[in-house]
Amino acid sequence: MKKTKIRNLYYGTAAFFILLFLALHVHTLIVLPQRDHRENITPLVAQGKLVWEENNCIGCHTLLGEGSYYAPELGNVYKRFHNSRAAIKGFLQSRPKTGVPGRRNMPQFNLSDKDLDAITAFLKWTSEIDTANWPPNIQG
Ligand code: HEC
Repeated sequence: MKKTKIRNLYYGTAAFFILLFLALHVHTLIVLPQRDHRENITPLVAQGKLVWEENNCIGCHTLLGEGSYYAPELGNVYKRFHNSRAAIKGFLQSRPKTGVPGRRNMPQFNLSDKDLDAITAFLKWTSEIDTANWPPNIQG
């Protein structure tokens, strides 16, 4: 091949992939707001995110596949608890202080009623994000 041909091939391919990258980037910017339904982030959901952070839930759990693998994935826990915030709340309230012998335990956090409302609202909102079925299995 001639030198000019090789140069054109180099610039042509580079330009093609830069344009492809830009197009995919724009596509992401358009699609993301629809997928994460951010219009539903109420003050209660935001408060729930804070409860999530302050209690380091991610130190044991994954959320949408990110986090620690000690305890179950929680991005889908709202659905696994039959779409019931009350059921999640009941679970969190009912953790025994001393744990269940012979089991990996979920600690008792003694969250206030307001914090329980907030964390369950946050977990509900998270479960409704369109993640294109990520994580691929129920355990995260
Ligand atoms: C020290 C580790 C640890 C931390 C921190 C922790 N969890 Fe857990 N959690 C567990 C374990 C282990 C389980 C599973 C065993 C069980 O059912 O008790 C669990 C189970 C759960 C479940 C039920 C999941 C299911 O599929 O049955 C929910 C909901 C939950 N945790 C929420 C939370 C929230 C919210 C926080 C933060 C406030 C949190 N966890 C912090 C260890 C932890």
